[in-house]
Amino acid sequence: KYTFNLIRLFSQVNQPKMSLESAKRIAAERAIDNHVKDNIVLGIGSGSTIVYGVQRLAERVRNENLNIICIPTSFQAKHLILDNGLTLGELDKNPVLDVAIDGADECDIELNCIKGGGGCLLQEKIVASCAKNLIIVADHTKNSQYLTERYKKIPIEVSPIAYVPIKTRIESLFGGDLKLRMGVAKAGPCVTDNGNFILDWFFEGSPTTDFDGINREIMMIPGVVDTGLFIGMARKAYYGMADGSVLEKE
Ligand code: 5RP
Repeated sequence: KYTFNLIRLFSQVNQPKMSLESAKRIAAERAIDNHVKDNIVLGIGSGSTIVYGVQRLAERVRNENLNIICIPTSFQAKHLILDNGLTLGELDKNPVLDVAIDGADECDIELNCIKGGGGCLLQEKIVASCAKNLIIVADHTKNSQYLTERYKKIPIEVSPIAYVPIKTRIESLFGGDLKLRMGVAKAGPCVTDNGNFILDWFFEGSPTTDFDGINREIMMIPGVVDTGLFIGMARKAYYGMADGSVLEKE
């Protein structure tokens, strides 16, 4: 009985992980199939979901002989593009993108997003802002009614010299608890692709219902480089569902 229960527990623990990975894959593949056509400039997001999108993109580029210029949103994205034999572009040469496809940590019913769980929010936001269309790809756990319903922190990228004053200022103005994100080995702070630190803003419940307003106020604090709040930027979201379908929202 003990062995049986262990096996059952093990399969329960492993089940959601497997289905979440396939949910990410079907969402990313659908977005690539729907939005990629020949001769476009395409923003490549960061995170685990976009990996499946880039694999599909590489397959389509090979099979259909497509000419796609890919603009990365991070060191990870740059190497995904190169490792998959795709054409690497840069904003200096291609300041206007046709589409950017990226993941999200949470996305609400109006397609406002929290991003930056992987620490790439600044370049992601710059690239998204240059794109005519920002498309979100995610598994169903990222789909929420309102921001911070499911994802309980907002990442903020800051200049290293200002992290303590920024932490103090935001906590006294808006409450919550800002924690300096540490690197994987916890030996020092996580340093972004841009040489900055990340403050993760944790709170009980939700800090506000006006995320646009709070975003503007935080952006005014000297030393804040950018926030993980992507308000009014995304045009469409693809969610991979547990039953194998893809939910499209716009
Ligand atoms: C990185 C991001 C990612 O896009 C976000 O964290 C989603 O990642 P994943 O696809 O692994 O769920 O914003 O900074």
